[in-house]
Amino acid sequence: MAYCRGQPHWGAHLADDLERLVHLHDAYGIAAVIVEPVAGSTGILVPPIGYLQRLRELCDRYGILLIFDEVITAFGRVGAAFAAERFGVLPDILTTAKGLTNGVIPMGAVLVREGIYQALMQGPAEAVEFFHGYTYSGHPVAAAAGLATLSAYEEEGSFEQAKALEPRFEEALHSLRDEPHVIDIRNIGLMGGVELAPRAGEPGVRGFDVFRDCFEQGVVIRNGGDTLQFAPFLNSNNEELERTFDCVRNALRRLH
Ligand SMILES: Cc1ncc(COP(=O)(O)O)c(C=O)c1O
Repeated sequence: MAYCRGQPHWGAHLADDLERLVHLHDAYGIAAVIVEPVAGSTGILVPPIGYLQRLRELCDRYGILLIFDEVITAFGRVGAAFAAERFGVLPDILTTAKGLTNGVIPMGAVLVREGIYQALMQGPAEAVEFFHGYTYSGHPVAAAAGLATLSAYEEEGSFEQAKALEPRFEEALHSLRDEPHVIDIRNIGLMGGVELAPRAGEPGVRGFDVFRDCFEQGVVIRNGGDTLQFAPFLNSNNEELERTFDCVRNALRRLH
């Protein structure tokens, strides 16, 4: 399924591997399954159509909690508030961070279903619920940054902006298809991966060389091994996308 645009049609059945693990270990011993709805740092791996639905069904069947790690995918990255919304699958627990404050102030948040929330609220009235002794828990500055960011997303229509930009981003990304060393391109929302053939005996070097070349041209991309990973601003414009991909194209043509 190389050069797939959006969700691959093939691969929903790969979720059935969970059933193999259930038979191996017994469902009773498995509390939860945690997945990134779109795997980020492992190379922008987009879930095949039906894959997350299948995981949800299996978790329901065997009484296993489904956790989505949406540290990357939440808050507009996939053109919706959450990947859960984009893919139409509701997890039991959802983790977030980066986009929660637009990354300007460190903050993470965990969203849970009502039943899980209520389970945590069962303690004695005089005890703090779900207590963690972190120095910076519930920090008012982070909370203020989070609220301001959410307001900005709403006022500027950032999630809709990201959704509207997706086709243009997809075109720009896939325009690299015939450049040297490119062996696969994957994308969903404003997440994109361009995989390069590793140089013999030196995995990761080509990816890093492109990263460095782009940096020297004034554009920051990211490489995870030999996969170039793109996550442009939700409010990027066409010129910024063009400039980014021109730099990548230049870097690829200079690569050996
Ligand atoms: C998908 C995902 N989950 C979790 C983390 C770690 O998040 P934090 O640094 O907020 O603990 C990262 C960091 O990049 C991530 O990409």
